[in-house]
Amino acid sequence: MKSSSARNPAATASLNEGGGVVLPKHVAIIMDGNGRWAKARNMVRAMGHKAGAETFRTIAYHCRDLGLDYLTVYAFSTENWKRDKFEVSAILRLLEDYLLEAIEKMVSEGIRLNILGDTEPLSERIKSLISRTIELSSVISGFQVNLCVNYGGRDELTRAAAKSNLSGKPLGDCLDTANIPDPDLLIRPGGEKRLSNFLLWQLAYTELYFTDTLWPDFTSAEFDSILAEYSKRNRRYGGA
Ligand code: FPP
Repeated sequence: MKSSSARNPAATASLNEGGGVVLPKHVAIIMDGNGRWAKARNMVRAMGHKAGAETFRTIAYHCRDLGLDYLTVYAFSTENWKRDKFEVSAILRLLEDYLLEAIEKMVSEGIRLNILGDTEPLSERIKSLISRTIELSSVISGFQVNLCVNYGGRDELTRAAAKSNLSGKPLGDCLDTANIPDPDLLIRPGGEKRLSNFLLWQLAYTELYFTDTLWPDFTSAEFDSILAEYSKRNRRYGGA
């Protein structure tokens, strides 16, 4: 049991009731279902993303308290630009808010924030917030959140292949996730059972977990029950 490294041992207590829970080091999440959550409440889709961003905050702090090393979330994909422009700007606005908050709060509370994806097409304001957040985060060791923004697995592989050809470095060292271990567990709320161009290289041996819960309704308690299920999985990495 890894509870000895937990920042908040109470956070792992209920997980470990049966004893011997093995925690993943790295959890990845596709935060899906925000739009349907909003529609069911006659709200605009942007409100679903706002609620989803709150869930992200709750789960990020929970992962830190459990003593996980990495949380990687899919916030905005290379395909999401196709959405209505109000929805795109709502998601990017939430990103700005979170980066501002990260600069002021998350970083001071021991959460190291990193951005994965092609940040080039983002606004100058977001790019400078990203640089500032990464600069402040660089002094923090411990729990790291990777926010995937303008991220697509195929786009990442294409960019990495170009870098690898130029530098002669192995492909894995040219990915946005170079130096980050692959996720142990992928959680996709929202009922769909697909990867949607997320971490295509890194998920090769990751344990997958799908739940019908819409992301804004997802709780720390459900997260813990998924960790308990993960703990029972037999990971073989292609071996016997
Ligand atoms: C998928 O739900 C969700 C997204 C495309 C965006 C996720 C963004 C957030 C949670 C907010 C931004 C978060 C941060 C941390 C900046 P969907 O819209 O496809 O939902 P649906 O399948 O119900 O339509």
